Amino acid sequence: MDLQGKCQNRNPFLVLLVAVESRDLDSRMAVRETWGNESNYGDVDVVTVFLVGLSIVETRKIQLLLEVENRVFGDIVQQDFMDTYYNLTIKTLMGMEWVAKYCPTASYVMKIDADIFLNLEYLVHNILPSGTPVHEDFFTGFILKNNVPVRDKASKRYVPIEMYPSDTYPTYCSGSGYVFSAVIAQKIYDKAQVVQIMPMEDVFMGICLNELNISITEPPSDIFIRKIEDYDRCQFNQLVTVHRYGRNKLRNVWMDFWSKKNLGCPEFQNRILG
Ligand SMILES: *[C@@H]1O[C@H](CO)[C@@H](O)[C@H](O)[C@H]1NC(C)=O
Ligand SMILES: *[C@@H]1O[C@H](CO)[C@@H](O)[C@H](O)[C@H]1NC(C)=O
Ligand SMILES: *[C@@H]1O[C@H](CO)[C@@H](O)[C@H](O)[C@H]1NC(C)=O
Repeated sequence: MDLQGKCQNRNPFLVLLVAVESRDLDSRMAVRETWGNESNYGDVDVVTVFLVGLSIVETRKIQLLLEVENRVFGDIVQQDFMDTYYNLTIKTLMGMEWVAKYCPTASYVMKIDADIFLNLEYLVHNILPSGTPVHEDFFTGFILKNNVPVRDKASKRYVPIEMYPSDTYPTYCSGSGYVFSAVIAQKIYDKAQVVQIMPMEDVFMGICLNELNISITEPPSDIFIRKIEDYDRCQFNQLVTVHRYGRNKLRNVWMDFWSKKNLGCPEFQNRILG
């Protein structure tokens, strides 16, 4: 599905590229009802699109449902690769290509998985550099350094020597959610045409950034959380992402978080200051 007009006549401050399986309508709905709802953010122009491939099960049926869904919501970007873990890199590059082609006036982009809690307002108001011009080479997220390729064939993250001969990966950001200036989308897309594609999308982005000499910006600590973290409204007020908030958990937590977002957190402040 070639979603062309979504950014027309707007200058999105942030484009959310949400990676989700084609058959997972329920997770897309949960995102649309929570942090992915563009009309939540009034003063900030946010564009949300979902990145999908072709379902590996019930391909035809799922495809027809997706087309109906896209007629209703107009937010699905799809190309004809099989929607598998190994094709996540292709999926992400499709998102980069979409931004470069159809959303060239965007300022920032975030690639995020659907099962993540996202506090977009904190990101926009506290993390993204404000003002113009946009910081050209900005890329941040949960940083992983000195990770080594898994050479065990049984692992999901197995990487043969022929695919990646070096002993360590360049610094990269966890694929669950990373943010970057929109101009980087085109640069990464172009670089990906000449670099050996790797199945692990987050590692691959690190390789491209390294080739492009773009260094990753260190975020403040504890705002991209990658361990299991129970919901705490005041803590979640002061961070960007938390892992493993699948659709139902996300909906539950969001109801509380969003309805109380204007309430203060005196206890929390006392805890920090004390
Ligand atoms: C998004 O928010 C608007 C305004 O609050 C609401 O009318 C709409 O139903 C929401 N969309 C979804 C999918 O929940
Ligand atoms: C996608 O993944 C499948 C299975 O993991 C693989 O067979 C296929 O070649 C990949 N690429 C495309 C473009 O579908
Ligand atoms: C990156 O830096 C290296 C070494 O400093 C240089 O050779 C290369 O041309 C640079 N690449 C880009 C894309 O600027």
